[in-house]
Amino acid sequence: MTKTKILIDCDPGHDDAVAILYAARHLDLLGVSTCHGNNSIENVTRNALSVLTLGKLDIPLAQGCAEPIAGPRLKPANAHGKSGLDGTDLPEPDRAPIDQHAVDFIIDTASAHRGELVLAIIGPSSNVALALKREPRLTSWLREITIMGGSTGLGNITPLAEFNVWADPEAAAVVFDSGVPIRMAGYNVTSRTGTNAEEIERLMAGGKVAHHIGELLRFYRMRQQQFFGLDIAPMHDVCAIIPYVHDNLIDYRHCHVGVELNGKLTRGMTVCDLRTLTEEGRAARGSGEPNALVAIETKARALIGHVVDTMLSYG
Ligand code: RIB
Ligand code: CA
Repeated sequence: MTKTKILIDCDPGHDDAVAILYAARHLDLLGVSTCHGNNSIENVTRNALSVLTLGKLDIPLAQGCAEPIAGPRLKPANAHGKSGLDGTDLPEPDRAPIDQHAVDFIIDTASAHRGELVLAIIGPSSNVALALKREPRLTSWLREITIMGGSTGLGNITPLAEFNVWADPEAAAVVFDSGVPIRMAGYNVTSRTGTNAEEIERLMAGGKVAHHIGELLRFYRMRQQQFFGLDIAPMHDVCAIIPYVHDNLIDYRHCHVGVELNGKLTRGMTVCDLRTLTEEGRAARGSGEPNALVAIETKARALIGHVVDTMLSYG
């Protein structure tokens, strides 16, 4: 069976690192682009290049937006440490970004693989929103957009907003309103899908790649314990990738998703209309045509087992 063609737009980020290595192992990872988010564009780009170097992955990387398309520039989040990827000494990058902005790289890659490319957004949506504005034909060129972002319930960065959408809500709104088929893995499921202490120990005892990932996830789990009392290192981002490898590990509901832009307390919230309205009810009270497959449940233990096995397979 031919592997799904995918491009990952990311902000490494501990879970981004795992998502890149996982996708490279199981899918046709055509490229990586970076976006501000977990840390500065310079740091997330260096981090992504180090991950590609660690995995000995010959995959082009394009650097992208340093700030949101509309809102204020963010100060780096601290969940991922000062560098954005604290916890281990990754190899220095053995390559540089390509000489093309991420926005143009996304457009050119989609154009070269019309109808086939899945675009994964596992950081803020700034690059993808600008790409959709710059090249409206993207809406027909892209097979699907898979997003780690939003939530059907509680958030992480605020009570009701998840970080990736909150970091550039105007950009996320452009993506959800684009008409491209969307698959959304939100914080409601990803916060409960992570590696535990025993799995992290197994990774630490693995080969070079697995050991570095184990050290990263040991740090990330410690931070998650510190802030949220979680006892796992949530694998948020790989939840956006895994359905193209194993299509039975996440359950979805097709519904309308809107992004709140103005609420004083709710800016960056994804409003997922999960009501079971009748035809009449939808006509009278619906919030819009369903525009996304929204993750409702994961088979977390099986999903994480595949991820851990994949990291160990790098040696
Ligand atoms: O809210 C989780 C998301 O924020 C993940 O993509 C993580 O990498 C951070 O960017
Ligand atoms: Ca991320």
